[in-house]
Amino acid sequence: VAPLKVGIAGLGTVGAEVVRLIETQARVLAGRSGRGIRVVAVTARSKAKKRGIDLRGVEWAKDPLALATHPEVDCFVELMGGAGDPALSAVEAALSTGKSVVTANKALLAKHGIKLARAAEKHGGALNFEAAVGAAIPVIKTLREGLAGTGINRVYGILNGTCNYILTRMEQEGLSFAECLTDAQRLGYAEADPSFDVDGHDTAQKLAILASLAFGTKVAQSAVYVEGISSIAPEDLRAAADLGYRVKLLGVAVRTAKGIEQRVHPTMVPKTSSIAQVMGVTNAVTIDGEGIPPITLVGPGAGGAATASAVVADIADVARGIRANPFGRPIAQLHDTKKAPMERH
Ligand code: HSE
Repeated sequence: VAPLKVGIAGLGTVGAEVVRLIETQARVLAGRSGRGIRVVAVTARSKAKKRGIDLRGVEWAKDPLALATHPEVDCFVELMGGAGDPALSAVEAALSTGKSVVTANKALLAKHGIKLARAAEKHGGALNFEAAVGAAIPVIKTLREGLAGTGINRVYGILNGTCNYILTRMEQEGLSFAECLTDAQRLGYAEADPSFDVDGHDTAQKLAILASLAFGTKVAQSAVYVEGISSIAPEDLRAAADLGYRVKLLGVAVRTAKGIEQRVHPTMVPKTSSIAQVMGVTNAVTIDGEGIPPITLVGPGAGGAATASAVVADIADVARGIRANPFGRPIAQLHDTKKAPMERH
């Protein structure tokens, strides 16, 4: 069988790690997929940057669009980020020629997910985005495949590693918000513009994606109420601690009589609760399914290695020929967040 030919746009921490994993895990991946996986072309802002990866024999495409439409590329891997161009037009171009796309871009999916899923549906490519939520935690697959037979009533959790890292260090070391944020940036957890993290938008984007998979709603970031953590001071955390609580930035999507409610805000959680034990850059997602006790997935929610792990798993699915409906159902079956609230799909 011919190997799956991959093109990668964006060679930052995640992209470089994806290239490395495809090489070091080649045997395991080939065993699992029934065929090899080969990086044939890449594109990145700087060609000269030292990345510590072997790109001999790999073509440099002139820009993301050229890579997305490259005749040799079967699977376009978008790791540039950002809800607009160049990511949007490159992903659209790849999908419209029937190629498969793997992306970690939650902003793009939260804004244009339905349009992109429609293109994938129409032209037959896969659109995989496990890395967009919870990095290495397989939460997309859990909702889409693992719990396909279970009605979901609520999904909630800690979805932003940067915020949880900041809140943890502020609480444990009494450091200021600004100091902790600088460290999160230095460690590579924060977004290019960290206000997306601390103002709650990153959590909102991830929540919108999870809600779509959990409830069959059209993914829409605009449906999420958002409040961030930037005004929280160490004193607030101490006051909460005195009362037996910790403060966590939670994203919550729940089925209510009025529709699917989606919200992001700092929340006081009892210190003894399991969500309160989640510290540092770790993410946690709890899924309340019909007739079964809650399921909680906990793991690394940010960082190059954790994100690359999910990207490579998605590429392996493409190699294997697995093609799921991106949001779990055909687009025609997805409903608006305010409609058909009590009906389980
Ligand atoms: N900035 C994000 C976070 C990266 O801190 O969780 C992973 O999406």
